[in-house]
Amino acid sequence: MIYLDNAATTFPKPEPVYRAMDSVLRNSCANPGRAGHKMSLSASRLMLDARETVCKLLQVKQIESIIFGQNCTDMLNLAIKGVCKPGMEVVTSVWAHNSVLRPLHKLAQEGVIHLRIVKDLRDAITDSTDFVVATHASNVTGDIEPIEEIAALCHMKKVLLLVDAAQTAGILPIYPEKWGIDLVAMPGHKALYGPMGTGILYIRPGLSIEPLKEGGTGTSSHLLFQPNEWPERYESGTVNLPGIATLAQGVRYILQNRVEIHAREMLLTEHLLSGLLNIPSVTVYGSLLPFDRVGTVSFNLGGIPSATVAERLDENGICVRAGLHCAPLAHEALGTLAQGTVRASLSAFSTEKDVDALLSVVRQMARENASD
Ligand code: ALA
Repeated sequence: MIYLDNAATTFPKPEPVYRAMDSVLRNSCANPGRAGHKMSLSASRLMLDARETVCKLLQVKQIESIIFGQNCTDMLNLAIKGVCKPGMEVVTSVWAHNSVLRPLHKLAQEGVIHLRIVKDLRDAITDSTDFVVATHASNVTGDIEPIEEIAALCHMKKVLLLVDAAQTAGILPIYPEKWGIDLVAMPGHKALYGPMGTGILYIRPGLSIEPLKEGGTGTSSHLLFQPNEWPERYESGTVNLPGIATLAQGVRYILQNRVEIHAREMLLTEHLLSGLLNIPSVTVYGSLLPFDRVGTVSFNLGGIPSATVAERLDENGICVRAGLHCAPLAHEALGTLAQGTVRASLSAFSTEKDVDALLSVVRQMARENASD
């Protein structure tokens, strides 16, 4: 099996991730922060270690600003609903995923916010803008948005900025303190190589946002209101300790190898792009320059439905994703709403052989299509 659906979730994971999952489930799986016995304390240490490791990744100092949750959607919902207040003007781009578009549309429909959706955020941040939600890289085209530039603009105009780093966390550097980003949402299970069921939200220290849920935090238990202490304020209920401790191993792997992985992924992306462009009747979407994109490549073969191409690849043991990828406005902008696109996405474990196998099936399909 050749797995090229890493933009949805990475597979396989680095060995230390598998080992950590086994070890935590066997040895340290008590409830962290809820008791004083040795096993609970050991679980708390694992949570602390995970927060410190994510701090290193983002080059931020305060561990309290690292919040763990279920996935990137969970973290985006917390950030969006925690920030948005009646009357706010919110701007996002057509490259946003439904995990951004749907919460924002709900708030707009309820009359809470005024929502603007634009192609280029840089032209759209005005004096009346309160909050910008930027997508670091599109999950359809792989194209990177100029986050540092957007952050500088937001900073200048005193606008809050949330970055959806679903497709970049672990691939590209993202330094919220240095770049002036208020909130960053990340999945644990994609290019940070943790397990599913994990997500991370960075909240700038001092930025008070509303929690998405209330409940037990293991702190200030005499209070009937949600306590103010971070990170517990945002992590009510038993946390996913095995997932988070395991994710820490994935983040360590990235801290040690990110630059080499990214360089390799760019070379492979170039190989994939040039191979696809050499096949007659293939259309590739997004930038053709590996520096401007991540290793997520969308394409179509003539007018063949994207699902048909994906099915044929699957018959040949190659996993890709077809359709709209939960990003309808991106497809509207690309003119691919009806056909969708075939999306191949790389990871640290993808090889030239994997890419060649995909190219060979697409080439064969193109030949058949031409002789029909
Ligand atoms: N958001 C994920 C994707 O793009 C699931 O496939």
